[in-house]
Amino acid sequence: MKTIHQKANDRAATGNSAPAAFASLAAELRGDFLWGVATSAFQLEGSSHADWSSWEEILNTKPEVTNHYELYREDLALLKKLGVNAYRFSIEWSRIQPRENIWDEKAVEHYQEIIDILRRDGIEPMVTLHHFTHPLWFSRKYPWHEDGSVEKFLAYVEKALSILSGVRYWITFNEPYVLVLAGYFEGCTPPGIKSVPLGIRALTNILKAHGAAYDMIHARYPDARVSVAHNMAALAPWKKWNPLDRLLARIAKYFYNHSLLDAFLTGRLRLNLPFHKEQEIAVPIQGKLDFLGVNYYTRIHMRFNPLKKKGVEMRHLDIDGHGLTDMGWEIHPRGLEKVLRYASRLGVPLIITENGIATRDSQEKIRFMKKHIDVVEHCLRQGMDIRGYFYWSLIDNYEWLQGLDARFGLYKVDFDTLKRTPTNAAAYYSYLIKNRRF
Ligand code: FCB
Repeated sequence: MKTIHQKANDRAATGNSAPAAFASLAAELRGDFLWGVATSAFQLEGSSHADWSSWEEILNTKPEVTNHYELYREDLALLKKLGVNAYRFSIEWSRIQPRENIWDEKAVEHYQEIIDILRRDGIEPMVTLHHFTHPLWFSRKYPWHEDGSVEKFLAYVEKALSILSGVRYWITFNEPYVLVLAGYFEGCTPPGIKSVPLGIRALTNILKAHGAAYDMIHARYPDARVSVAHNMAALAPWKKWNPLDRLLARIAKYFYNHSLLDAFLTGRLRLNLPFHKEQEIAVPIQGKLDFLGVNYYTRIHMRFNPLKKKGVEMRHLDIDGHGLTDMGWEIHPRGLEKVLRYASRLGVPLIITENGIATRDSQEKIRFMKKHIDVVEHCLRQGMDIRGYFYWSLIDNYEWLQGLDARFGLYKVDFDTLKRTPTNAAAYYSYLIKNRRF
């Protein structure tokens, strides 16, 4: 089985990336490039049945404050105003299956209504089945490192598929690596376990669940396009001259960005983490993606620091002068090209399923979008097969560890009056879309 590197070499030898460029640009001119925005259910609606609800209490904020579960029709009308032709959103498992043996079909119908409205308005829905949250009962009884987890997740997928219709684009899991790093390695999000071996078990089960869900979706909808949304970051050594920083950056890049792509190509997950035995695990996902969803936000610098836990320090530095966002993340548009170039080696179309900035400054938001969309255009011209760009996010919403202060929205939300007001960045995005900027 060829690794990504071997495949890339083959492509370079045959020089077959140029036709993809023309196909992509042509597709854009035909208007089927997906210009979208992305959201997730829990961040807009909350859910008292979700495991995260016990964590957000720590922050003293409730995602429910956007009141999207009630105001969804108004919010969907904003999509039409923006002029996007695609919308990525998630369905909340804990609303659909609040207890292990209780299904709330009304909740699924609610999401079906969203799909129907999108279809009516000519907007392509992209549905995420799992965006970080779980029903509480699942987290307590079958967290991902337990074997029963896969079966339970698939029962939920089956239920969702049996009721939802009209969806072509599916994301099984949002950022499986972020889920495992935060929930298992760091333990700062549910299930709050600090164990690398259990995290690896969880990741293996999540990938198994992806493989099976991929087959289930295709069995029902042969034309479906299925992927995960993979968070990729630009990873660099703190000091280029320091071999330990370079080594850490290399390890981080392979684990965080590349090991999943190799697993899609080979069916083997190769893990080579510092202080842990190197291992290769069979995961039934070989070839099981129709495009790759890439979430890109920032660059992270890696530093070997003996004073830190396991000697690893990660920092955002404002090296190129693009600045840091309100989340403290470095703005680094060139990193998007790097990750897309790497992901292209997979040989499937790419869709940027998330890219956005937390800032209250609209001009800053516009600069961020412009710089990143310029990179997308450049990548298309370089021959990369990119089929869409989704800005995160439509309206201000609850951010996982920051609460309501991280303002990602194209529409500003006043959390007291619930009023949505367009930022200048909304007008800018509409302008780009209308004028077929590429
Ligand atoms: C991504 C998450 C998304 C949102 C953005 C800011 O990693 O997928 O839910 O929180 O970050």
